Amino acid sequence: NYYAIIMAGGIGSRFWPISRTSHPKQFIDILGTGKTLIQQTYNRFLKVCPKENIFVVTNESYTDLVKSQLPDMADNQILTEPVMRNTAPCVAYGSFKIESMNPDAAIVVAPSDHLILDEPGFVSTIEKSLKTASKDHCLITLGIKPSRPDTGYGYIQYTDNVIDGEFHKVKTFTEKPTLEIAKTFLQSGDFLWNAGIFVWSAKAIVNAFEQHLPEMNDIFAEARPHYNTESERTHVNQAYLQCTNISIDYGIMEKAENVYVLPSEFGWSDLGTWASIYDLAEKDYVGNAVIPSEKVIMYDSSNCMVNVPHDKLVILQGLHDYIVVESNNTLLICPRDQEQNVKKVVADVKQQF
Ligand code: GDD
Ligand code: MG
Repeated sequence: NYYAIIMAGGIGSRFWPISRTSHPKQFIDILGTGKTLIQQTYNRFLKVCPKENIFVVTNESYTDLVKSQLPDMADNQILTEPVMRNTAPCVAYGSFKIESMNPDAAIVVAPSDHLILDEPGFVSTIEKSLKTASKDHCLITLGIKPSRPDTGYGYIQYTDNVIDGEFHKVKTFTEKPTLEIAKTFLQSGDFLWNAGIFVWSAKAIVNAFEQHLPEMNDIFAEARPHYNTESERTHVNQAYLQCTNISIDYGIMEKAENVYVLPSEFGWSDLGTWASIYDLAEKDYVGNAVIPSEKVIMYDSSNCMVNVPHDKLVILQGLHDYIVVESNNTLLICPRDQEQNVKKVVADVKQQF
């Protein structure tokens, strides 16, 4: 009764020019391991549920990328969206479809672009959560101990009210707070970061949509009789066009009451910034991380993050604390501590080129 939904329709704008709208982060081998992030995600879930029970939800423009990177997936396991409407519709489509096939399903929903170093730890965490979710029909999210007041995450305030020994009842869920609020959360000590990985029974998530996003619920309920028939595509496309753009975090997690968090530790990183990639990448003795490394030559250079095409000859002289990234014939050179400006730059560049 265990199922997985992999969310793979985001565009990963912070990793430009490596990540592009036409080829976002989940389809890239960003750490140089030989597997793209979505391939790593899929392989992890093969250890949790049968391969027929794994679904990918993605934009229709990425269908070919998904097929080529995950050739074992059948066509009916790749669920496509005609437009980007964020993660709430993505979860609704996947969950309602699974629920229509198996009302007793328990589902893990996960991003396609995260890194998880401790795979056995991850697998046992997910199995535990699926078990509790099937039994208690609650919404479970995995919580990570926060290390800085990052405003890119959801913050979960948990209580001492516990089920199954370790799932804490959630008091508040705050998606992407302001820096000031994030600082107070961090100081208070009873908050965790939302890892963005959710576990619930099909029943519980359908109920949550009925209660908290009733319009979206009605939209997808109309398409429901068409699931797994030839008319699924037409009706689901129609549904998406009517959906508002909202994430599952704002739409459901902030409002729902039966939410539990499992404090987790499995070498998690959402690889959200070059800084986080730099932290995890292998570095030489002066702190340079070079992916891939064959033709990059460095003189008197330190603490640089270099990611260039493998056949590119690159020479750095006297460069310290820089990001040097080339992809798609576009070169980005930026001090490591100014990467937050890249998003802004990309918006400008996109208008002009
Ligand atoms: N199918 C589909 N459609 N997938 C999408 C869409 C969409 O419209 N938008 C985003 N995704 C996918 C992304 O590819 C990613 O794998 C996942 O859904 C999460 O979306 P992000 O856009 O990366 O969310 P976030 O990082 O801002 O925030 C979420 O993750 C944080 C942890 O990394 C939230 O859940 C936060 O609360 C959480 O802390
Ligand atoms: Mg993310």
